Amino acid sequence: MNKQIVLLPGDGVGTEIMESAKLVLNTIASEFDHSFTFYQHAIGGDAIDNYGTPLPEDTVKACQLADAILLGAVGGEKWDSFPGHLRPEKGLLGIRKKLGLFANLRPVKGFAPLLHASPLKEEVIKGSDILIVRELTGGLYFGKPSERRDNGNIVVDTLYYQRNEMERIIDKGFQSARLRNNKLTSVDKANVLESSKMWREIVNEKSNEYPDVTVEHLLVDAAAMKLITHPTSFDVIVTENLFGDILSDEASVLTGSLGMLPSASVRSDGVGLYEPVHGSAPDIAGKGIANPLGMILSVALMLRFSFEMEEEASEIEKAVNECLEQGYHTLDLNIKGGKQVGTKEITEIVVENLTTKSVSNSICSMYV
Ligand code: IPM
Ligand code: MG
Repeated sequence: MNKQIVLLPGDGVGTEIMESAKLVLNTIASEFDHSFTFYQHAIGGDAIDNYGTPLPEDTVKACQLADAILLGAVGGEKWDSFPGHLRPEKGLLGIRKKLGLFANLRPVKGFAPLLHASPLKEEVIKGSDILIVRELTGGLYFGKPSERRDNGNIVVDTLYYQRNEMERIIDKGFQSARLRNNKLTSVDKANVLESSKMWREIVNEKSNEYPDVTVEHLLVDAAAMKLITHPTSFDVIVTENLFGDILSDEASVLTGSLGMLPSASVRSDGVGLYEPVHGSAPDIAGKGIANPLGMILSVALMLRFSFEMEEEASEIEKAVNECLEQGYHTLDLNIKGGKQVGTKEITEIVVENLTTKSVSNSICSMYV
């Protein structure tokens, strides 16, 4: 298969982990006889520095033509004092919105060799396997432009949702639950927010269309606690934009490191943008020590969701698992008696595992 992929390395460690993604994709291309063409474009702080805007028109056009998009990370202290429209994050939010990528899928499943790497007790996290389905193009992130009034002493951020925006993501939540263990936890703040009341009404209406899926409602504060105390009680979580952002970082603790988490931002026709959940990590950027596994696992999600290359995707996941079983890890992780290596080295080990037949067929796909 021939696929056109836009690469948006962005800022900080984004450029380093993008190199890992390319290496893995080139390996998959030669192992499985595919051809991937890469088109690299600027976004975020890199685009502000070079083109005076976080989301250049060329980048948008290229993304619109692509079969799929891979993104590294955006942001960094350097741009913190820039005015609102010149924030690197605007590039990421802009591309999500322009492409209509309303469904953000964040699988949270620990790899066995990392069970002890979490600060949580092994017996609490063992067996946890969660898919967070986060709404991505509405809510507080995309209300009326934020305002400062009264000499900056009053601030207004607006939470705005249309019914159909809630309906489509809630449908995605139910459909995802059907592909897994038929349990959907809907997270809201219906005891306070009008938007959450509407959200809950829609979930209840929709549950009639999916009688095979068990629905649970949780307030976001209670959900935050239960994620840490009883993570194995969750299957699919569906929630609005900001709650999903917060809960997915929290859930990453179950896997040992935020650096392990991949994500897919998709729309109904299969076009998607894939990126690790972590940010640009300016403190370690340029040192060659960033964990590229969240990015490499995002490549696997891209192959699975956008290109329907299930076998290729699960080979990548197996190669990552094997690398961890061999004891290799980056600085953010700790494997007892393991070997700490850098970004390039761990990528090469994953690639080696992909190219040798030593990858065990008995380990089933990590993310389904
Ligand atoms: C994420 C990030 C982004 C978000 C930032 C960088 C704008 O935290 O993808 O989770 O809040 O969506
Ligand atoms: Mg986030």
